[in-house]
Amino acid sequence: MPYDVDRIRRQFPALSRRQDGRHVAWLDGPAGTQVPSSVIEATTTLLRDGVSNHGGDFAPSRQAEALTDAARSAVADLFNASPNEIVFGQNMTSLTFATSRAIARDWRPGDRIIVTTLDHDANVTPWSEAARDAGAEVISIEFDPATGLLDPDAVIDALDERTRLVAITAASNALGSVTDLAPIIAAARQVGALSFVDAVHFSAHRLSNVALLQPDFLVASAYKFFGPHTGILYGRREHLESLAPYKVRPAPDSAPDRWETGTQSFESLVAVTAAVEHLASLGQGASRRSRLESAFAAIRTHEEGLGSRFLSGIAEMPSIRLFGPSEVGEQRVSTFAVEVEGISPQTVAAEMGRRGIYLWVGHYYAIGVMEQLGLMDSGGLVRIGFVHYSTTSEVDRVLEALEFLGSS
Ligand SMILES: Cc1ncc(COP(=O)(O)O)c(C=O)c1O
Repeated sequence: MPYDVDRIRRQFPALSRRQDGRHVAWLDGPAGTQVPSSVIEATTTLLRDGVSNHGGDFAPSRQAEALTDAARSAVADLFNASPNEIVFGQNMTSLTFATSRAIARDWRPGDRIIVTTLDHDANVTPWSEAARDAGAEVISIEFDPATGLLDPDAVIDALDERTRLVAITAASNALGSVTDLAPIIAAARQVGALSFVDAVHFSAHRLSNVALLQPDFLVASAYKFFGPHTGILYGRREHLESLAPYKVRPAPDSAPDRWETGTQSFESLVAVTAAVEHLASLGQGASRRSRLESAFAAIRTHEEGLGSRFLSGIAEMPSIRLFGPSEVGEQRVSTFAVEVEGISPQTVAAEMGRRGIYLWVGHYYAIGVMEQLGLMDSGGLVRIGFVHYSTTSEVDRVLEALEFLGSS
């Protein structure tokens, strides 16, 4: 089945949006992607037909339980996990704060927590706050500013028997760099430290495999991969059972439900399933997981094509400076942070917005990245994100605008 980006785009009503008579270019995927009709219909159908809370002895209540199970199964396929290892919540940040409180209950002075400057702050501050409350020490590992990559050895060298947790990103939402997680997770386990992986940015571009990587926790957010605004936590079964989350007394005591505070957004959970189904529909195979594998292989090829075109284009423009890996491949996804010489990033973004090119500017909560690069006070960087529905003409359009701005 050839990758047909036009067919994919037709499934996304928002992509037909126009500004001044011209299609807009949604290059703000790293801040949140648009959704296909199937996701919209899943939510509207549920709300229109009616749904009840869990625990009632009548059909719409049982339906709420069934749709929760279905969403867990869908995400389990997305991560290659078991459905009973999947927890939903408001967003990744809230889930990480809540999980950090439970994990840190027995942290003591002398314990060490490792974070990185490559991470979004949602995988830093929950840990540094928990460490502060416990009197534990926080060690922050820097990435290589020349490549935008995190050297696994820099993390591994910082590990010792005092380390309780390593919080690490799978892919940077600022620089697009991909972390080589396997050696870090394995080394953390060897010293008895937990690993907590932020796969929020990664999940639009690559398929996680927790059965292979064996992290202790991994988090994502469905709105970054064509779904609704719902956070997702994978936790190894043994942790979800043995750790004690902060919860109200009547809430279930069994995992994974004991990790979900209050009533879940059922209208979002049906949409999470629809988003995973959308991705799986782009691939082939006997099982949903195998369809996801084939879909993500195709998505990666498509995005690498866009990324190469973008990188070749800016290579011809001396006034454009790229931060992060300079080539497509294993170590980068199609998210590009750039600077236009002599123009503030905010002005570039505003000019792009006027042209119907929607992209992001600033630090995007990746404050460790901007601090390390010394860009915090100069307005951060312009971020251009290509996802599975992006096109070569959108690449050319942003290149044309960059060339114009860079030479004016
Ligand atoms: C890499 C990364 N981690 C975490 C988050 C926070 O996710 P949420 O908005 O679900 O809290 C984001 C959001 O931009 C992100 O890009």
